[in-house]
Amino acid sequence: MPKGKRVGIVGAGNVGSTVAYSLAMTGACHEIILRDNKIDIAKGKALDMSQAAAAIRSHTVVSVAEDMSQLVDCDVVVVTAGSPRLPGMSRDDLLMINAKITREVMQGIKQYSPNAIVILVTNPLDAMVYVALKESGFPRERVLGMAGILDGARMASFIQEKLGYGGGQIRASVMGGHGDDMVPLARYSTVAGVPLSDLLTDDEIDEIVNRTRHGGAEIVGYLQTGSAYYAPAKATGIMVDAILKDTKQIHPCAIMLEGEYGYNDIVSGVPIMIGANGAEKVIEITLNDKEKKMFDKSVASVQALIDGLNKNNFFGA
Ligand code: NAI
Ligand code: 2OP
Repeated sequence: MPKGKRVGIVGAGNVGSTVAYSLAMTGACHEIILRDNKIDIAKGKALDMSQAAAAIRSHTVVSVAEDMSQLVDCDVVVVTAGSPRLPGMSRDDLLMINAKITREVMQGIKQYSPNAIVILVTNPLDAMVYVALKESGFPRERVLGMAGILDGARMASFIQEKLGYGGGQIRASVMGGHGDDMVPLARYSTVAGVPLSDLLTDDEIDEIVNRTRHGGAEIVGYLQTGSAYYAPAKATGIMVDAILKDTKQIHPCAIMLEGEYGYNDIVSGVPIMIGANGAEKVIEITLNDKEKKMFDKSVASVQALIDGLNKNNFFGA
């Protein structure tokens, strides 16, 4: 029997298990394999999700890989393994801990699912995409990071809250790295095709931009023991779906830049067209001087993280 679509999820914590549940409930793939160091917890979640799939008469089966060698032949692997961002902890604090985890996980993916398209979620996101790419040697088309869809969704929800209308008709665009210097693009954001600047004042737009930049921290402030997972999981599921269904739709995702936007050998969030082969095209949109400056600042923040890894001899170790 031919193999159905198989999605591996490394890190079955809040984000990973919510991605898995959401995929199982939509029947997006035939098999979901969870891999986590906490094997019994992963087993419990896999059973629970398989039973939920049975309840809706879905064909999706959820199982557990006790080690990376059981994560075989996946079409897509989502990596959320790592430490979550806790109160008072910046995304950058997570750098070294999560870089080592990402290295270990990518070695496993390279060996056992060598043709997979990998979607990184672990923070600091852009730096982890960079690490994953360098450690695997995979082409950039197959190593993507999830952030722009999430940040755009946050911006859209803040626009709706501010306007009090327009829900479901808002397209909000965010580029750059997934950090405090991300680049929410009000000029490329619309409500039913109406430019944001025709609906809100500059001050109101600035307030939304600022809140979007700190959207993750706002939720950490409430949760205290972890970070957001419903919207991050949905945003990741959108990427998985785009790959499995070969939608060829444009989404903002983190990817290694190869000359686009004037950069090389650095990862940032830019619009890409996603299909069965991963990132099938990188889209270059026109940025005005102010937007370009914001993008440059965001790229510099990611570069500082890579410099930090180099300073600690991470890639030489
Ligand atoms: P979590 O702590 O609930 O889950 C992480 C899981 O990874 C844990 O279950 C842990 O046991 C597992 N893990 C750790 N090392 C592992 C290894 N070597 N192999 C397999 N599993 C391992 O954290 P949560 O909330 O799910 O977040 C996961 C990551 O995603 C964090 O780094 C967080 O900051 C990041 N994140 C990124 C977002 C983005 O927009 N890119 C949005 C939300 C979260
Ligand atoms: C977020 O933006 C923590 O990066 C994570 O929610």
